Amino acid sequence: MADEKATLNIPGLGLIELPIKSGTIGQPVIDIQQLAQHGMFTFDPGFMSTAACESKITYIDGDQGILLHRGYPITELVENSDYLEVCYLLLNGELPTKQQKEEFSSEIKQHTLVHEQLRDFFYGFPRTSHPMAIMCGVVGALSAFYHDSLNINIPEHRHVAALRLIAKMPTLAAMAYKYSIGQPFVYPKNFMGYAENFLHMMFSVPADIEERPDPVLVRAMDQIFILHADHEQNASTSTVRTAGSSAANPFACIAAGIAALWGPAHGGANEAVLNMLEEIGSEENIPKYIARAKDKNDTFRLMGFGHRVYKNFDPRAKVMRKTCYEVLTHLKLLDDPLFKLALKLEEIALQDPYFLEKKLYPNVDFYSGIVLRALKIPKSMYTVVFALARTVGWVANWKEMLNTPPLRITRPRQLYTGYEQRKFVAINKR
Ligand code: CMC
Repeated sequence: MADEKATLNIPGLGLIELPIKSGTIGQPVIDIQQLAQHGMFTFDPGFMSTAACESKITYIDGDQGILLHRGYPITELVENSDYLEVCYLLLNGELPTKQQKEEFSSEIKQHTLVHEQLRDFFYGFPRTSHPMAIMCGVVGALSAFYHDSLNINIPEHRHVAALRLIAKMPTLAAMAYKYSIGQPFVYPKNFMGYAENFLHMMFSVPADIEERPDPVLVRAMDQIFILHADHEQNASTSTVRTAGSSAANPFACIAAGIAALWGPAHGGANEAVLNMLEEIGSEENIPKYIARAKDKNDTFRLMGFGHRVYKNFDPRAKVMRKTCYEVLTHLKLLDDPLFKLALKLEEIALQDPYFLEKKLYPNVDFYSGIVLRALKIPKSMYTVVFALARTVGWVANWKEMLNTPPLRITRPRQLYTGYEQRKFVAINKR
């Protein structure tokens, strides 16, 4: 559609020609930037029809169920690479060579520890805190500890901040968990891989004989990380870009992303799926909950179903479903009542006209909660795992935004529907 234009006829202003821009693949966009000069704005709550930025990182075709990172299908990445390779790809645009992978991995390992004083920060939280509440706080607090990577105008600062965030997230996430159960914090072991190290910090106890985590479960953990690594301009990534657009420091931006991820409509869904399955309890209750999900007067939704972009299937869900079978088979948990309940719910919903007509299919979170449960990760940590994995996507988008000048502060306008100007009335006359 090169050089094509859309024409907008605005009463009182006449015809305005707007350029149509095409990407390499995907829908073209109408470039409306000049509208403000004419005193007009567009209105698109929830950004249903808005492309907020230009990006080269991730491509999604929701109708075809396609997800590409830097051009590579997610299924191929899950099958053939590990999470650190995908991190390198998202950050640098290319898959690493063997040497680049080793260098990147060793750079990450240099940053897995957190400042010792950061441990004290944890003790300010009640033990009953949700680990996501702790993560919002401690990740933001990193900016108080690492002054040498805060200047967003210095490429080396940006690079080190990116490495620090990716390297420290598993350590902080595991610390949040250990703190909540009153066990000692476990330091990272850099001879272990990224996912293995996370499981080690989550589950080992200094008093026990040290055993390395089960490789099948390590692989499953790594796959969960890959599947959550990036997902185009979702709510949390857009939040990170918005925070970064004011030139805020990277740790503050990622803390903003964690906050946006927490909600049950986004990253909180994996925890919400498990809560829902536990509430449903047994197969005979499924019809009642399906009816509730369809009832317009009931706020209940089938958690783990539906997606803003995927209207055919979520390619991540397909992979996660397979991982789910592999892990449960390995752990001899295929007869697990909650897993059987989830499969029954999936079967019933996928035959129901309501879900078919609205194109509501299981998303990645429908299955990831079941895998995480099998890995013995507690429910309250599910969204933390999502945040840990998504950090690289947030950082890659943040870096891309800073590398694509000019940096413009995100400042949407509004359709004002409040009072017109009116006269102030003194309190004794009201
Ligand atoms: N159960 C029942 N009805 C639903 C569901 C659901 N899970 N999801 C959407 N609908 C209905 C909704 O009521 C609406 O009906 P109507 O047109 O009659 O008003 C219609 O489908 C469209 O829904 P919407 O909320 O306008 O769609 P959206 O694109 O704004 O929302 C969503 C997408 C993911 C927030 C939503 O499907 C949802 O709340 N799903 C459950 C939460 C969930 O699983 N979230 C994880 C998403 S995947 C992980 C991630 O990337 O964050």
